[in-house]
Amino acid sequence: MNREDFPMISDKLIYFDNGATTLKSNSVINSMIDYYSKFTSNIHRGDYDAALMTNELYDSARDTVREFVNAKDSEVIFTSGTTMSINYLVTSFMKNHLKKGDVVLLNKAEHASNVLPWFRLKEEIGIEIEYIPLTEEFEIDLDSLEKMINNKVKVISIAHVSNVIGDVRDIKSISKLCKSNNIYLCVDGAQSIPHMSVDFDGLGIDFLSFSAHKMIGPTGVGCLVVRRELSKDMKPIFLGGGMNLDFYNDGSYELHSDETRFEAGTPPIGEVIGLREAILYLEKIGMDKIHKYEVELKKYLVSKLEKNNKIIMYNKTSHSGILSFNVDGVFAQDVSIYLNKHNICVRAGNHCAKLLDEEIGVSNTVRVSLYFYNTKEEIDKLVEVLDNDNILREVI
Ligand code: ALA
Repeated sequence: MNREDFPMISDKLIYFDNGATTLKSNSVINSMIDYYSKFTSNIHRGDYDAALMTNELYDSARDTVREFVNAKDSEVIFTSGTTMSINYLVTSFMKNHLKKGDVVLLNKAEHASNVLPWFRLKEEIGIEIEYIPLTEEFEIDLDSLEKMINNKVKVISIAHVSNVIGDVRDIKSISKLCKSNNIYLCVDGAQSIPHMSVDFDGLGIDFLSFSAHKMIGPTGVGCLVVRRELSKDMKPIFLGGGMNLDFYNDGSYELHSDETRFEAGTPPIGEVIGLREAILYLEKIGMDKIHKYEVELKKYLVSKLEKNNKIIMYNKTSHSGILSFNVDGVFAQDVSIYLNKHNICVRAGNHCAKLLDEEIGVSNTVRVSLYFYNTKEEIDKLVEVLDNDNILREVI
């Protein structure tokens, strides 16, 4: 749907790498061109028309995000993306609220951004990391999770949708467990926010991270949404202009009371404006419609690939637009190079989820990650091209 709004879409290119980043709509691109060509100015500093216009768009972007994820009593902090958001919450909050021996629950399907910041905290303050077991379909095993809860567990940090398996985690049930056991719940929404409606308040999330570039927005900007009760205890990591009220000769200083206290220096203004436009665009289509369509596309893809006995699929049933597979006897990256010869873009490798190989038994897979602008005709083309016994010969 809406293919005409995306300038990169053409009959010559099939883009199936939306988990890595998505294409950008004309509306997003134009909103940024307008900022850079018609009203470039800094925020919260100028009294002239261009600056007032910029303030208005930047500030309203925050409300647009808040409404989009239904986070009424929260702070929406602009970061450079999911990776910075998770690093930020670990450094500015968890480091001051956890102590040696406290347990953080992760799982082996998590992306590097939701593993390494916790590893660093283990190095620095001696937290313990434990992994929630996965089921035979490589999804979160809720029964095992429940059994792991004890008074040492202080945090569960989990992707809402895994970037390789594409399973939608039951955040509502996990959050109930967290609430009754005083556990912080950190949700990586990088692969869910662009594809389905996410209700921060309704799900009972404490910290939510996501990136604009995976939801038709620009690179270089993302969000960390924090329940206000917790954000008041978060210590700004960066200090500088735009976040302080005043500072004095004796070395004391006062900070803003709103989210700008976390956004020292000139933020990515054009990118925040692009993110706002991306959300307005997605809302116009409707997140439920997007999710339903992607799930239908994936089912179609699976049903077609099932007819090819050389294809090994790892996550046929997960409820999103992500499919990871291999072609028997062909290295994943060779498949990707071969598909590129047919102008089909996919991602091959471990997808930054480097603990998952222990679970699924292979280090590399080919990943097709769909979005609302993909079509069944594009899938037919992929299926046709994969139905070839001589893939390797064509790669060399
Ligand atoms: N997390 C991104 C992906 O899955 C980069 O491709």
